[in-house]
This record gives sequence, C-alpha cells and structure tokens, in this order.
Amino acid sequence: MPICIPINGARSNFVQCPVCQASHSPVKGELKDGVYAADCQNCGHFFKFRAAGPVRSTFSVTINGQSYTVDNSYPGSTSLNEFLRQKGISPGTKVMCIEGGCGVCVVSATIMDPVTSKPRTYAVNSCCVPLLQCDGWDITTIEGLGNTRDGINPIQQRLADYNGTQCGFCSPAQIMSMNSLLKTNPKPTMEEVEQIMDSTVCRCTGYRSILDAMKSFAADAGPDLPGGLIDIEDLERKMCKKTGNPCTGKCSSDQSKTMLHMVTAGSQWLKPTNKQELYTLLNQHKADDYRLLHGNTGYGVYKDIGDWNYSVLIDVRGVVEFNIIQQGGATINLGSNLTITNLLEYFRIKAVDSNDFLKTFYSNICLHLEKVATTSIRNLGTWAGNLMLKHKHPEFVSDIYCILESMKTMLVIGDSTGKEMNYNIADFLKLDMTGKAITMAMLPIVNNPNVNIRTFKAMPRHQNAHAYVSAGFNMVVDAKQNYLVSGAPVLAYVGINKAFTRATLTENYLSGKQLGDPNILKGALTTLSSELVTDTVASLTPGPYRKNVALNLFYKFVLDICSQIVNPRYLSGCTDLIRPLSCGQQSFDTHPEEYPVSKPMIKLGATLQTCGEAEFINDTPPQFNEVYAAFVISTVGNADIDVIDPSPALAIPGVLKYISAKDIPAGGINNCSPAPKFQAKEEIFCSGKVLFAGQPLGLIVAEDQMTADYGAEMVKVTYKNVQPPVLTIDDAIQKKAFFKAPPGLSAGDADGAIAKSAHQLTGQIACGAQYHYQLETQISICYPTEDGMNILAGTQWIDGVQKIVGQVLNVPDSSVTVEVKRLGGAFGSKITRNFPISAACALAAHILRRPVRLMLNIHTNMKTIGKRTPYLAKYSVGFTDAGLLNGIKIDYYADCGATPNDVSAAAMPGWFDSAYYCANWKMTPFLCKTNKPQNTAARSPGSSPAVFIMESIMEHVAKSLNKDQLDVRKLNLYQKGQKTPSGMVLDYCNIRAMVTQLETSAQIATRKQQIVQYNTANRWKKRGISVLPLKFGLGWATAQYNTLVTISNGDGTIAIFHGGVNCGQGINIKVAQTCAYELGVPMDIISVKKTSTMTNSNSITTGGSITSELCCLSVIECCKMLTQRMAPVKAKMGNPKWKDLVAKCYSEGVDITARFVTEPVDVNPFAHYNVYGVCCSEVELDVLTGEHQILRVDMLYDGGKSLNPDIDIGQAEGGFVMALGYWLTERVIYDSTTGENLTANTWEYHPPMPKDIPIDFRIEFLKNSDNPRGVLGSKAVGEPPVCMATSAMLAVKHAIEAARKEISKDVFFGLDGPATVDTVQQNCLTDSTNLTYGK
Ligand SMILES: Cc1cc2nc3c(=O)[nH]c(=O)nc-3n(C[C@H](O)[C@H](O)[C@H](O)COP(=O)(O)OP(=O)(O)OC[C@H]3O[C@@H](n4cnc5c(N)ncnc54)[C@H](O)[C@@H]3O)c2cc1C
Ligand code: FES
Ligand code: FES
Repeated sequence: MPICIPINGARSNFVQCPVCQASHSPVKGELKDGVYAADCQNCGHFFKFRAAGPVRSTFSVTINGQSYTVDNSYPGSTSLNEFLRQKGISPGTKVMCIEGGCGVCVVSATIMDPVTSKPRTYAVNSCCVPLLQCDGWDITTIEGLGNTRDGINPIQQRLADYNGTQCGFCSPAQIMSMNSLLKTNPKPTMEEVEQIMDSTVCRCTGYRSILDAMKSFAADAGPDLPGGLIDIEDLERKMCKKTGNPCTGKCSSDQSKTMLHMVTAGSQWLKPTNKQELYTLLNQHKADDYRLLHGNTGYGVYKDIGDWNYSVLIDVRGVVEFNIIQQGGATINLGSNLTITNLLEYFRIKAVDSNDFLKTFYSNICLHLEKVATTSIRNLGTWAGNLMLKHKHPEFVSDIYCILESMKTMLVIGDSTGKEMNYNIADFLKLDMTGKAITMAMLPIVNNPNVNIRTFKAMPRHQNAHAYVSAGFNMVVDAKQNYLVSGAPVLAYVGINKAFTRATLTENYLSGKQLGDPNILKGALTTLSSELVTDTVASLTPGPYRKNVALNLFYKFVLDICSQIVNPRYLSGCTDLIRPLSCGQQSFDTHPEEYPVSKPMIKLGATLQTCGEAEFINDTPPQFNEVYAAFVISTVGNADIDVIDPSPALAIPGVLKYISAKDIPAGGINNCSPAPKFQAKEEIFCSGKVLFAGQPLGLIVAEDQMTADYGAEMVKVTYKNVQPPVLTIDDAIQKKAFFKAPPGLSAGDADGAIAKSAHQLTGQIACGAQYHYQLETQISICYPTEDGMNILAGTQWIDGVQKIVGQVLNVPDSSVTVEVKRLGGAFGSKITRNFPISAACALAAHILRRPVRLMLNIHTNMKTIGKRTPYLAKYSVGFTDAGLLNGIKIDYYADCGATPNDVSAAAMPGWFDSAYYCANWKMTPFLCKTNKPQNTAARSPGSSPAVFIMESIMEHVAKSLNKDQLDVRKLNLYQKGQKTPSGMVLDYCNIRAMVTQLETSAQIATRKQQIVQYNTANRWKKRGISVLPLKFGLGWATAQYNTLVTISNGDGTIAIFHGGVNCGQGINIKVAQTCAYELGVPMDIISVKKTSTMTNSNSITTGGSITSELCCLSVIECCKMLTQRMAPVKAKMGNPKWKDLVAKCYSEGVDITARFVTEPVDVNPFAHYNVYGVCCSEVELDVLTGEHQILRVDMLYDGGKSLNPDIDIGQAEGGFVMALGYWLTERVIYDSTTGENLTANTWEYHPPMPKDIPIDFRIEFLKNSDNPRGVLGSKAVGEPPVCMATSAMLAVKHAIEAARKEISKDVFFGLDGPATVDTVQQNCLTDSTNLTYGK
C-alpha cells in the first residue's frame, strides 16, 4: 500500500524515502489522482506516496477541438508553445524570442474571463504560457482555422489577398490576433482592429497591408477595403465533439472546483481554487523556493521560472475571490486576477459613462494602459503581477505602478495565516512578500473636480516598449486661488533610478503653494531637478535625457492643470501625440496585354503561409537520432582564452558532447570564409584570441534544445590578458585599428574645386548599426548521409555554404548538398552569416554521425551575428552662392567589426552622389577594426548610409546659405547626359520631372506653409517636412544564377528551380509569371521548387535587389530554348494544346528541360541601370519627450514596368518601414567594459511596430515607365525605397530645427543615426529654464 507522505514542497526534497529517509524530488509519473510513484534517488527503493488533500493531478486541454490529457510528465517549465510544436500539433505556431516580445507564437485561447466568469477568447503568447497552466483551456492555433486542402478561413484568405505576407513567418500569429478579436467582437471598428494588431512584429511588410487586410473586417471599413464583415461561424473549422456543431468554446473552464496538484520531475504545480486554499499553500511553502504566477508574462521580462529555479509553482488563476471588480462606497475594488486588458476595458466603459471631468480622467488612464506591453501580453498579464515585478526588481519600469500610485491606491495583501491588511503602494514596495499574496487594489473614487491625476509614458516606439520614464501625478489644485495646491501631492516616477519612486522633496515643496505663480513653477522644477538623480541600472538610455524628460513630464502636467493661465502656444505641451487611424494609397499602372507579367498577383504560397502550412527549416520534424546544438559564446570582447571547462555542462543529463576548434578533422580548416573570395579568415570556433563578445568558442550538443542552451551557459570559461574592447569608429581611428581598405574613387579635382569655391564647409556625420531582426534566427540542420552531408540551411547563399562545409570538413564540395525552400526573413543577415552556423553544425554532425540542428536563440543570434555596418563620414564640400556643388571630398570609415569580409565600402562610391551632379569628387574608404562581430550586409547596405551622408551634406550646404532645403537639392539634380563620378553617362534620367510631379501631387508648397503656421502656433509640438530625391545604381555584375526549367511530359506541368532564395521578396511568383508569359501557358501549371546545390549549383548569393529580376532573366532564356526546341513540332501540329504539344515533343525526343546561367556584364562598374525615386515625409515632434510620429509619406518610385505591382509595392513599403527603424528606433548598445551587446533581446531592441509607420502612407509607381536595360522593362524595388526613409529622419531634423528656433539656437547641426527618441529630445536643446507658462 502507498506510503503517504505529505508534500512539504522544499526544493528537491519534498518526498522522503521510507527506507533510507533521503529527501528528494520524485521522478516517476503519476499513477492515479493524487498518488505518485518514485524511485529513491539514494537507495533505489520504489515507493508510492500521496499528496495531502483531495486534488486533481491531471487535466485536459482542448486544442483545435481535440482534447489532450496533460499529466505530470511535463515539467512546470514546458511552455504551451513547446507542447504545440514538439508534439507536431501546430508547426504553424512559430517561436522566436521566448520572451513575449516578438509575438510570432500568438494563439487564441478561450478561457474564463475573470470579470464575466464566462469563456472568452484571447490572443496569448504561447511561449510565455506554461503548459500546466492550460487547465481547461480551449486553444485554437492556425491549423484550427482552416487549411488549403479542406477550406481556408476568411482571415487566412484576406491576409493573403491583401498581400499581407512576405516571408510569412509572422502571418499565423497576425491571423490569430485577429481571430481572437473577431471571436469576442465580430463587428469591430477599424480603430479597434488597429489597436489590437500590436502583438506581433513583422519585419517584412511594413504592416500597411496587414492592417488593411484586418481592417477590411471592420464594421466601418469603406469600399477601399473590400471583403466585408464575416459570420463568426466561418472562423473556425473545429467541431464540438459533444454537439457536432462548430465549437463555441462554451465548454471550456479553467475554474475547476478541485485544486490541481501536479508533482512533476523536480517541482510541484498547484492551482488553488479559493483564497483559503491559497493561504494554506502559502503557509506550507512560505519557507520553500516557491513562486506565484498568473499570466506568467513576467517571464518575458525576467527569466526566473523553470525547474531549476522554483520547486513550487502556485497558479493563482483559480482563486475566485481574486476576480472581484466592484465599485462601492469610496473605492473601486479590483481583484488581483484582473488582467491589464480587464482594467483597460473597465476604464474604457467608465470613460464613456462618466461626466466630462471623469471622462478625461479615465480616457487618460486608458491611453496609458494601451501603451503597456502588447494586447496579447495584457490579455494574460495582471496588474498585480506587474506590481510584483516592481517589488522584486526595483529597477523595473512599471507603468502600472505609476498609474496606481498616482491614484493613491491601497493594496489588500493576504498572508499565510489568512490575515488581510491594507497597504499603500510605497509600504507595499518595502514589504516582505514571502508567504503573502496581493488580493485586491482599492482605487479611491475621484469626484472632486479639483483633483488632477494624469500619467505619462515616454517610450522609444509607439507600441510594445518599456518606458524610458513613466510618471504619475496627483494634485488637488484650486484654480480660483491661483492654483493653490492643497493636501499632499503625488509625483511618482519610474526609470530614474532603482530606488526612486516618489519625488518627495517636490511634493513637499508644492504643498500649500500657488502653482499659478511662475516662480513657484520654477521652484518646483528646481527642486525636482535636484532630486532626480539618474542611475544606469534603471535604463540603458542616457541619464540626462531621463532627467530632462522627467522634468518635462511634470511640466506637461502643470500646463494641463493651469491651462487657463498658459499662453495658448504652450498648451501644445500638455497633450501627447495623437495618432489617428492610419491609411495608405497605392497607385500603379499595369499592362494587360502582357499579363500575367505586370499583373498584380499575390505570392505563390501566400495561402500556405497564412494557413501555417509553409514549412520553415525549424518546422522540419526531427529525424531519427537527431540532436540539438547551442553555441558557447565569449562574454568578453578582447582577451585570450585561459581555460574552457565544459565539464559542468557535460554533467547535465542529456548533454552529449562539447565540440571546439580542436575537433576539426585533419585537413579541414577553422575558417568559415570561403576562400579565396574574402580577404580575412574567420574562425568558426575561437582558437585562443577572442575578437568580440559573443564569439563562438565551442558547441554543446544535447538531446533537446533546452538542454543544449542550458548546457552552453554552464560551460565555464576563464580569460586572460583581458583588454578594453574597441567599440567605436572614433576609438578605432585613435588606435589606428584598420584593415586594408579597397580603392576609393576620384573624379575631377575635388581639392581644387573646393578651394576655388565661394563657399567651403567641412563636417562629419555618422550612422549606426541595425540588427536584422529576421524572425527566423540563424539555423542549419545537417544530416550525415552515406556519401556526404545534406544540409537544410537558412542561407541566402547555398553555394557559399557548400564551400565552407567542404573546407572545414576537408570533404569534396560535391559531397555536400545544401537546400533551402524559404527563409523567415533574411535582409542580408543570411548572406555570409549563416556560414559559421552551417559550418559548426556540419562539424557536429560529422563527428557524431547524427543529424544535428543548430538554431540560435535570440540572445545568441543578437550577440554573435554582426549587424548593419556603422559608418562615420568626414566631408569637405565647395559650392557657389546659389548652392551649386563644385567639389565633394568624403573620407568614410566603416566599422567592420572583427573581420572585414562583409563590408560594402568598395561599392559605396556608386551611391554617394545619389541624385546630385557634382563634377569633382574624392571618396576615400577606411576599414575600422573593432571588437564586435563581423558587421554585414543589411537591406540596402552601403547605399543607405551613402545616401544619408550625401543628404546630410546637402542639408549642411542649404543651412549655411539659409536657403530652402528643397531648392538647393533641386538646383543640383542630375540631368540627362551628365556623368556620374564613376563615369556613367546618364542617357536616361527623369529625376527632375519626378521631383516636380511629387511637388504637385504631394502639395509640397502648401504643406510647407501649413507647417510654418503650425510651428508658429505651437511652442511644444513641431512639424518638419523633407523631400528626398534618389538615384540608385543597380549593379548586375558577377551575378550568376543557375536556373532549371523542366516540363513534365505526362501532363505538361512545369517546375522551375531557380538559383535565388525565397526570402519573402516574391521571387517565386515573378519567375512563374515570367515563365507563363514566355511560354504562353496558364499560371496554375507552374510550380517553383526549393533552391538546392543539386539543381542550382554555383549560384551567387540572393541580395542586392537583383535576384528576382535575374532569375526571371534566366527563366526567359530557358523558355526561349524550350520554345525554340518545341517550335518544329508545334509547327507540324498547328495550334496544339500545351499538354499535347509537350507529349508530342517528348515522344519525338525533344529535350523539354532547359538550364541557363546568368552572367550579366554591367555597362559601368557600379551600375547596370539607375532607379529613380522621390519621397516626401512629414513628421510631428513632441519637443518635451522627443517622441515623434510620421504624419504622411508620399513616395514616387520609378520601378519601370513592374513585373508584379502588388509584390513591388509590398517591397517598397516593407523596405521603407525597416529603414524607419534604422533611422529612428533601433539602437545597439555595447557594454564599454566587456564589449557585450546589452540590447540583445526584444525588451531593449525596438524595430517598428504598426503604430510607428506613417499615418498616411502613399506610394505611387511612375506611370508609363520602362527600363530597356531591365528584365521585361522592370526595375528592382527591394533596396532603393530603404534609402528614401532618410527623408523621415531629416523631417524629424527639421522639426528639431523649429524647436531650436524658439530658443534662438537654430544653427546647423548634424543629426547622427539612429535618431532615437532620447537623441531627438536632447537635440532640441530644451532645458528647465524654458519650462514656463509663456508670455
Ligand atoms: C513583451 C512584454 C512587454 C511588456 N511591456 C510592459 C510595459 O510597457 N510596461 C509595463 O509596466 N510592463 C510591461 N510588461 C510587464 C507586464 O505588464 C507584466 O509581465 C505583467 O503585468 C505581469 O503579470 P502576470 O500576471 O503575467 O504576472 P506573472 O508573470 O504571473 O508574475 C509576475 C510576478 O508577480 C507575482 N504574482 C503574480 N500574481 C500575484 C499575486 N496575486 N500576489 C502576489 N504575487 C503575485 C509572481 O510571483 C511573479 O513574481 C511587459 C511584459 C512583456 C512580456
Ligand atoms: S516567441 Fe513568443 S513572443 Fe516571441
Ligand atoms: S511577413 Fe511578417 S515577418 Fe516576414
């Protein structure tokens, strides 16, 4: 009979062996409810034990209509995402960051809503949800909505139809967010749709197409967004097992009346159903290593859950008393189980139902809550969990703290004895919370109109970002007595320093004072300034900005309160930026006579992507014997390795091997740069000298991914000769740390021309790095075969991977087969940067003779992989009185990182001139060596920085002459017949006409006037506009793509194997359109296959925007061969059907397979042809916070005769938005002591979200355009639009200039990239002396 041992929960010792008395965690599975079995880890005795009390120890979860029983075979750390993916239930649900930040893992969960006690569907991040939490949940994944075989769901169809997918990696999650909304709100407004589409990052599309697709479901969608509302029943295919009808989710319940108690290997999971049970558990476990959890979203911020962290996990979701939401007496009482979504919805209702005074109050709270995290995080994350993060981690920038503190909230805290006490938040933050739980918040009801409460958040992007600084203010002010402050005001802050929560000195100062007196305001600001002491623990953002913005937020509050006495110009300071619903326009022409070429068509495979059926490399099911690998990386950037001790890792069960440079087989080389193409050797594993923090030192191979990642962290590495890392270009220049530079370019006599010019200027400008943020991180799976190695590589360059694996393993290149079907985003990160991954993975597979999967987690991906190359340019320019350029000299310094192989410096002279003619040039590159990973190509590498540098020079010229920026630009625009610095004569140049066209279509002159008026009327909001013309040289040289077109003789269907890599750019649809056009066949008989070294050997990398058109070119050549070969047979047959023609050709021995390799020759070393474009951006800036929004973008683009305007518009929008991140929100910060990347996560790194894109985004492709040098008259689109986003940054610069004008400091300044919010604000030069009521 079982021996009953009460579970006392102590870490790793909560059962006791009845024989040897050893205490340890049980290791066997559950027998039946509440009864467990264990082998004693000490003496081996097998025994049974029982948990105390009546409990459930299994539960069921429904996924896509199928019920799964979950027992204790899953540890508490298993996420829902792991369960979905590893069980093969939902390969369509993706995974990337595992910290709630990227949102690719979003699924719909129907769970009990604490407010209504009814089931409700929410979008949730499956990576943060522990599987054991899904007790009674009803989950829908992308597979539950529809599929391409049995029927596709309307959301899946709509996203595809709107061309809202590119690589498709984010698509399932975007759909699940929308599905969750429609399940609860079948007739949303467009505003509501736009509000909830904030959970998932899309790096490809620029969001406009996704938002339009989703807004087309809105009740107020106009005819420009076709599709219409849908019937809720159409949303899901899953059928109820009980009723046979579509599942309504009504059966689900996570509120079982019996406590759940699961004893898993190493920990216990408990889910009490009421307060009493919770308090009893707290009593039992308060001395143990326990953790309460509700949404578990805190895991996304602080990774402190997991078997090795906690032995007791208590899920409080079931505690019914914590669901309370009631208003009575003097307080609103909010139970601790209420999520931030619950709060938001509650306050939204109050904002509608209340009187005017409270309406504003509640609306302001809602605006702030909408800026907390994302919809899917808010759906599970509670206010109480958020406060506890602040309690546990004082540096945490908790918005909830600011909101609740400003409302003078009292917290009710219960302890293990069942006693409940009230605390104010300040006391709570100091309270020992061991054995305690937050049960409720009591918010005093505000009904005195003299009470002013407002909260603010200054953040690096408009959605899904923690605050730089948040603040909450509460002041009782009597306007009739010159704004007399009565009682004790509250000035609450986060983001200042770890300990700073309240500005108590200022609170005391203000009490009893008349705030309407300008001297009191001044005194308050002085006092506040004295007590705001910023530290570096709370933030990576510079202290001066945070202090400045903290003062400014208080000033905003004061302006708001004292609006009656404030100069109306200054009132612009009290509002936040208000973003209306976004919209877009796309305009292009097509050529029906050439269809399907030039026809707007959705991508091949778009519905596969939206149905989650598109298989990415990591969706490949594991093969027999497959193992997983993780890099061991260095934590310092400039040192020698002393000792590497893998033994702690090897001691972990499941860890199989440590592999290092020493394991490279005889004859193989430790170099993942394919020789002889690259100048420098790049080690796969460091052999002694560490060149950068994040450098791979070795590889841990284990039975599963988590063990591999954990094992890699456990390897002990010591270093010697640790030196300060070189991390900046300035530092490298000072230390003369250079690589051999390529030749520059000179034209005419720049020195002479500058010297003779009426005006000369010198200056410098810099632009930073950019993490590619491709949602599929670097990956390779290597399968040893009988004759070599098969590799599924996440690469843009299969040929390169083949070569490096050959050289590392010392095997024939031909024994290595590399394949890639699609990439989940690349943007240049997978040109050479997959080489180290594939090389290391192949080495492990070679040694172990087992399939090995190496997929980098986001942290390793961000630390180990180089970024977009930063540049610094020092320039001299000579020009006339009118601003005509005479001569330009640019010394440009590239930050190569540790090795110089990927830098685009040699190509930059082809882009520096951009749209401007100048007869005399001297461009000189310098390659800087820094202790960073090898920087690499990123969408529009070299060209984007070059255009930015040139535009900065133009800004400088115009400003120095006090002339209109556009006028100076127009004066210098190229004309037909002029020569570029590289000697290309422009026999086609329409840039002048295009600028004129855009000036009219975008009403530039009128808007400039309006901006002047706006800026005059508003002291604290400024607008800026910038027009940027572009000439972009597109080079084709050396671009070999090997393409095969084969026709099946049986049915005439056609398969294309092209040498490009499908990374979402629409290459497959374009080659299929071209093939259909050339052969005169329907599109539906053409398919495009994966790229492989077997069929597409010797193909160069995919990149530089040219791959699509050159693969189309090679398809054309193949088709020509086929047509030619088939022509005699066709002639004999008259007008045969295609299928018959093919069959006849085959029977007559005609070769119906054709192959062609492009090897184009350029007319100029830098360009085969030029792309022209012009772009106008208008922005609005909040001078007090530095936050800005892009009001409108008008882009006119000469894309020639677009092969597929839908695809090309998508490329233009996506490229532009990616570059908005480059210039405005994305920054990489390295630790100056160690060289480690401090922004290697989704919490600190901020690519644009949907509300960062232009509010009004208009793109027009030039009509009646052609390109005789292009493929079928087309031009490339992938990269030039990236360059045009510089206009947005320059518009911000102009808004800053308007702010400087207010304080008579409007002199030229260079605005380096990235101009993140903090940089922008600091450049406005506002200080506390400017914070007045205005005269
Ligand atoms: C991607 C992302 C973005 C975010 N952005 C923001 C942001 O912009 N601003 C911001 O302020 N926050 C932000 N957060 C934090 C988020 O608001 C919190 O993670 C969330 O509110 C925590 O609630 P939870 O229920 O998930 O807590 P859990 O993760 O379940 O728990 C968090 C902590 O609270 C404790 N706890 C939970 N419930 C109780 C209780 N009733 N009594 C006592 N202790 C309890 C747990 O033991 C744990 O220590 C973000 C989080 C993520 C992942
Ligand atoms: S994987 Fe879940 S949010 Fe990134
Ligand atoms: S399509 Fe959204 S990330 Fe690629």
